[in-house]
Amino acid sequence: MSDERIRFFLPGPTWVLADAREAMTAPAIGHRGASFKALYASLQAPLRATLRTGGDVLLASGSATLVMESAVVSTVRGSILHLTGGAFAERWLAISRTHGLDADQVSVPWGEAVAPDLVREALRRKRYDAVAVTHNETSTGVLQPLREIARAVREESDALVLVDAVSSLAGVELETDDWGLDVVLAGTQKAIAAPPGLTVFTVSERAAERAAAKPNRGFYTDLLRYRDKHAAGGTITTPPIPIVRALDRQLARIVGEGLPARWERHHRLHGMTREWAARRGFAYASAENAHSPTVGCLRPPEGVAAPALVARLAEEGIVVGGGYGAWKQETFRIGHMGEVRETDLTALFDAIEGAAAGLSGVAA
Ligand SMILES: Cc1ncc(COP(=O)(O)O)c(C=O)c1O
Repeated sequence: MSDERIRFFLPGPTWVLADAREAMTAPAIGHRGASFKALYASLQAPLRATLRTGGDVLLASGSATLVMESAVVSTVRGSILHLTGGAFAERWLAISRTHGLDADQVSVPWGEAVAPDLVREALRRKRYDAVAVTHNETSTGVLQPLREIARAVREESDALVLVDAVSSLAGVELETDDWGLDVVLAGTQKAIAAPPGLTVFTVSERAAERAAAKPNRGFYTDLLRYRDKHAAGGTITTPPIPIVRALDRQLARIVGEGLPARWERHHRLHGMTREWAARRGFAYASAENAHSPTVGCLRPPEGVAAPALVARLAEEGIVVGGGYGAWKQETFRIGHMGEVRETDLTALFDAIEGAAAGLSGVAA
């Protein structure tokens, strides 16, 4: 592991370690030449290990929202069910509606997880082409019970399971094949800890068949176009090659750590945060049974305003995330994902305590 000290705890983009940053400075190559083809091909094994699939893992040049849109545009003809309870799940619902799809939602209050039985009930009431799940809702720090939700969808229907794994992949247990997930997508800038600009994703055979039956899938949003180009050894458009190089470096680190060990480290980081928060009067905004292992969404103690706390830390060169949307004023977020280690978090806790004490006028 690197001994680089991390003082950057945004819940994405996350800190990129020096060797991955340096990988981006290699001389230019063309994306249809032999060097890039070899680089692209070498990503498959670590990507499959990271997404826990025996199938192909595809690469889109663009942030995760592009593939959220592509997934619904490519596979949904009639109705889609979105599981909502935070800003990113709501964004996905808005995307479906923008495309004129019949989009319903199982909605829970912000901070809560969706009970799989609610999904079962919705699927018994109406047929859906797909169910869209935000595995880890970064705005509220909530992890959804994806395995159980996917099982409910499989048992109750033939709907595809579309998964936004943006802030869970490579940080939280996720089994694409074993859990029967049809499209799993994640940007490179969260727990993978590479720079932003690329999205990795899977497309199951079932999803590809549904897509083939849909007449208009757009161009940049056509999942099958990505599959075809992948079979030919590359991407559909010019990729951000420096970021591909950084991803290559990061994937080697991820595979070297091992996925179960990486999941375990994220659980430990969450456990530390939870223990510290309880001791120091910071309260989780997410429900007790739904805390995310990658991002803690917290309310500061009485008398300390969350935006002021974020600003005070920034003055010290320490970056945490502000609250999101409706929770902007009352919460702040600690992204403990990617390459963050226990020692980084301990130093952060000390800094937060100092900043909070300064703001409330109490000695640390
Ligand atoms: C859960 C989740 N979904 C989707 C997105 C959107 O990702 P991007 O900004 O890469 O399009 C984010 C970004 O933070 C996210 O956290």
